Amino acid sequence: MKSYVGGFCLAIRYDSFVKRPFEEHEFEDWQILALQNCMKDINEFLPYVKIVHPDRGEIVFDPYVYQKVLLKKFQKNRFNIGLLARQSGKTTAVGVYALWYAIFNPDKVIGIVSNKESSAKMILNRLKKMYERLPTWLKPGVKEYQKTGVTFDNETQIMISATTEDAFRGQTMNLLICDEFAFVPKNMAKDFWAANYPTISASKQSKVIVISTPNGMHNLFHKLWVKAERGDNEFKTTKVNWRQVPGRDEKWAEQELKNLGSKQRFNQEHEVEFLGSASTVIDPDVLEIIVERFQDPLIEDLNGHLYIYEKPKEGSSYILGVDTGKGTGEHYSAVQILELVTLSPVKMRQVAVYWNNMIDVYKFSELVNRLSYYYNNAYTMVENNAEGAVVVNRLWWEYENENLVNTGSKTKDLGIRATKSTKPMAVLLMKRLIEDGSLDIVDEETLDQLTSFVEENGKFFGKEMSDDLISALYWAVFVLEMNIFEEEYTLNEDGSVKQQENKEEKDDVWGILTDIDTEVEDWSWLDDSKVMFGG
Ligand SMILES: Nc1ncnc2c1ncn2[C@@H]1O[C@H](COP(=O)(O)OP(=O)(O)OP(=O)(O)O)[C@@H](O)[C@H]1O
Ligand SMILES: [Mg+2]
Repeated sequence: MKSYVGGFCLAIRYDSFVKRPFEEHEFEDWQILALQNCMKDINEFLPYVKIVHPDRGEIVFDPYVYQKVLLKKFQKNRFNIGLLARQSGKTTAVGVYALWYAIFNPDKVIGIVSNKESSAKMILNRLKKMYERLPTWLKPGVKEYQKTGVTFDNETQIMISATTEDAFRGQTMNLLICDEFAFVPKNMAKDFWAANYPTISASKQSKVIVISTPNGMHNLFHKLWVKAERGDNEFKTTKVNWRQVPGRDEKWAEQELKNLGSKQRFNQEHEVEFLGSASTVIDPDVLEIIVERFQDPLIEDLNGHLYIYEKPKEGSSYILGVDTGKGTGEHYSAVQILELVTLSPVKMRQVAVYWNNMIDVYKFSELVNRLSYYYNNAYTMVENNAEGAVVVNRLWWEYENENLVNTGSKTKDLGIRATKSTKPMAVLLMKRLIEDGSLDIVDEETLDQLTSFVEENGKFFGKEMSDDLISALYWAVFVLEMNIFEEEYTLNEDGSVKQQENKEEKDDVWGILTDIDTEVEDWSWLDDSKVMFGG
């Protein structure tokens, strides 16, 4: 049975569940009053909603206390973020909110995304079931009723998609709902956010709801949550653990812990804790604290590959750690720049990072050379394995960069070789410095990589994401093992590092770099080289 509206075949089966568009209805007085109340307060709408429960079948939606509070917060605030336990009724709550919003707000566009398209379809399906079970007088008519979208006769439209960059391309959303946001792959979530968030926040009334169970710390959901808690963004937070879900008690928790087979998983899914991998190199308790310390860079340059948190200060000492990739899109070429604040006791601070997996090794060598020069002739620790060999050779022979630190005889063994003994030494030194608070990390990507940097069977590697910034970091701190500072620097009374006079003489070497020799204190040389290094 097909119905025709406005000449188009919509293939909608109109029946007692799906109402025809613009169908006339004689409202009774109490219905008009009820409609007005529902419009004002979402909680007045809830008693009319029925949900389909897997065991109990169709039931009246009797919201849990937290759901009532959450729905009211959705109604009141433009930006909401929810950190909620597994199977706590979160998708149901956002579904109810989307339905209420659609009925009482004409001419709107509602976008619902989930980590997978199938989950997004399931949300719409559940929303349709709720719609179909509403009393007739409360229902808008339906103009379109598809698997990926619904349009009501008040011209409000609900669309669904997987959370990808292309989701809702070109559409201006009035309400955007992101379910299971922590489970969207990091880069996809970033692209989706970059494509959609600016237009939504630019409009004064548009709303965003982001909800998820936590899924580790290296994702956009975690970032939004942390910023919200710090008051760095406009999102209102709601946290719901298993205790707030009716029917769950200590006995349930005990059983669930057995079923899941891991305290870690239980803590993540039911205590809603942001956990890193089990075997992270950095103590998980320390990670939990430092991972929230990310800062916005002072300068982002070279097409988003260079992040500067602090420009070089006169008289300060810096160290570069370098890990080199092929430049073909796999491993990243990475540079970490640390300020050596004091040597006794050791105090270091991350001031800049560079990472790019598309820069060729020759350009990368030149960039490393310039960065080392720019940061007060910083000592430069370069891993010489594989592609790194090109970098050390160019730094030494081509650029005559005497700040390159060499572990062996200068001509034969330039740079640092990662071996079974040097790598663990460097990693453990980095671990110790981070854990005892001697090394401050502020870069978001570096912190992310630390949360997935693990030791398994004697090997160190990034489990869920790359670890190239970490390699650059442990080589940078490894400079402390080289005993060069004792020879090259004197200490001020407060333990801070003072450069010796003769260090200045090295500047003469840089005379050969005529293109950057002038105005090198001026950051514009980086702008000039954007095309070269941007990749
Ligand atoms: N207030 C409620 N009363 C009774 N049942 C409810 C209520 N809210 C949700 N449910 C039921 O609880 C189950 C889980 O709900 P829902 O899928 O919304 O939870 P979730 O937190 O999104 O789960 P997941 O973590 O699997 O995504 C569903 O069967 C749903 O119908
Ligand atoms: Mg869900």
